[in-house]
Amino acid sequence: MEHRITICTSCKHKGTQCRPGFELIDKLRKALAQDAVPETFEISGVACMAGCNHPCTVAYHSTKKATYLFGDIDPAVDVEDLVAFAKQYACLHDGWCSSVDRPGKLRHTTLARVPAAILAIEAAQERVS
Ligand code: FES
Repeated sequence: MEHRITICTSCKHKGTQCRPGFELIDKLRKALAQDAVPETFEISGVACMAGCNHPCTVAYHSTKKATYLFGDIDPAVDVEDLVAFAKQYACLHDGWCSSVDRPGKLRHTTLARVPAAILAIEAAQERVS
C-alpha cells in the first residue's frame, strides 16, 4: 500500500517571508531514510492545503487509510514526532487513531482527520443493504 506525506511549500512563518516547507521536506526525507520505518513514504510538496493560519501544514494519506492534516509544524523541532507518526500510521490498517495515541505535538495540532473514502463507501453500502 502506498503511503504519502504532503507538505505545504507555501506556508510562511508567522510575521516573516520565510517558507519552511522545503526545509521540512528535506529533513523529513533524511530522517525517514535513517529510521526503521516499516513502509516507504513518498514525500512531496504542494502549494497550500488551506491551513494557512497554522504553518507548516503536513498531511499523511494512503489509499485505504484515514487522512490527517497537521498544522503548526516547525522543521526545527518536530521532525521526530513526524517520524514517530509515520511508523504508527504505517501499522494502522485503516489509519484511524485518537489524539491521545498520536506522538508528542501531533496530539494537539491535528487540523483534520478524514476517513478513507473507500472504507466510508463500504460502510454506507452496508447500512443501505
Ligand atoms: S499556505 Fe500553507 S496551508 Fe495555505
